[in-house]
Amino acid sequence: MIILGIETSCDDTGLALIETRILDGVFECRVISSLVHSQADLHSPYGGVFPTLAKREHEKNLVPLLEKIIDTLRAMPSSVVAGYDAHITEFRALYSGQNRDLVESVCGAPFLAHKPHIDAIAVTQGPGLEPALWTGITFAEMVSKLWDIPLIPINHMEGHIVGSLLPSDENGGGWQRLKPLHMPALALLISGGHTELVRVESSRESRKLSYSIIGQTKDDAVGEAFDKVARLLGLSYPGGPLVSALAAQARERGIVSPIKLPRPMIASKDLNFSFSGLKTAVLYAIKELGGSGSLSDDLKMGLARECEDAITETLGAKLRKALDETGAQTVIIGGGVSANTELRAEFETIVKEYDITLYMPSRHVSGDNALMIALAGTFDAPPALQKIRAQGTKRLGPNA
Ligand code: KG4
Ligand code: ZN
Repeated sequence: MIILGIETSCDDTGLALIETRILDGVFECRVISSLVHSQADLHSPYGGVFPTLAKREHEKNLVPLLEKIIDTLRAMPSSVVAGYDAHITEFRALYSGQNRDLVESVCGAPFLAHKPHIDAIAVTQGPGLEPALWTGITFAEMVSKLWDIPLIPINHMEGHIVGSLLPSDENGGGWQRLKPLHMPALALLISGGHTELVRVESSRESRKLSYSIIGQTKDDAVGEAFDKVARLLGLSYPGGPLVSALAAQARERGIVSPIKLPRPMIASKDLNFSFSGLKTAVLYAIKELGGSGSLSDDLKMGLARECEDAITETLGAKLRKALDETGAQTVIIGGGVSANTELRAEFETIVKEYDITLYMPSRHVSGDNALMIALAGTFDAPPALQKIRAQGTKRLGPNA
């Protein structure tokens, strides 16, 4: 079975194709291709993701990316789409109000009149930015109608969990089995929008996994905290990797911050997080040190290091607490912040202490991508054609 994945929850437009099979009763998959078009440079001047711009960019990028990715299937048979003109008329009537540019892009793409060898579409239905999500969902709906294939709605955070189970994300790679989950399993999801500890359970009857959130942030997500501190230090968006690079320089040169930052909620009895105080503490520290104008490079490096240390210690402490409480045998780390070198080292240390298994995504799939969405689609067998809605959201008006 070949699954097309579509991801547009934030500022990355992702499309991926994977093939799956059951061999000797074991699920296997191979990555045909995964493409991500990052909008980070466009959002950088705004210091964060600008939703209307994200929507516009997804509308522009989806059709060309799809054309590129299905080219990898050209050796396989395709068929002519029946009732193509009627579909186009329907799309203009149904979707132009909210996604005019996308509809025109779809209607002006003759390659869509041929159905390639694809069995289902998995699309992110949430959580994420509404205008961005709806663009991907609307696109997926149109393609699934044209090609008469089922649509599988996927939770973006589930994507980050199962994405870490893939041994290799190599395009055009060989057949592979997913990393085995030793139960009970625990996921720590750290991204620009989420900080969550999730208990992962498997079902006896199917490959489906189930999830329960046992800890989460009460305010800012950890990636958001990195991004906000970056802005205070005069760095651009996305700020996480830049703060981390400054912190690494500080460690190399033995620079420490003269001001200690809080480790938010580190000693609280629950598994929740709070990162908004960190940004405020950095703001006050900068004021105390003479204001942003007089902040030397050494002070910036020291603050970046202190901030990264505060985040690492806090996440490490909560992960330990969650392991004590759940007795988890596997830890899965997911989300864009998992690219952070200090955090990866901390997680490695913790699992050694507990003598359990750690799965982290390769850096290539740690950020948002559609490969993880296509893979999550394979856990929801059998796919059924569904009318989907962005999770917990309403469709926006025409001006969104
Ligand atoms: O999962 P993701 O790609 O998008 C969301 O779903 O949010 O995560 C993006 C977040 C951004 O906040 C970015 O600054 C952060 O991940 N990030 C990092 C690093 N690389 C990306 N934060 C700290 N260190 C990094 N190396
Ligand atoms: Zn994400």
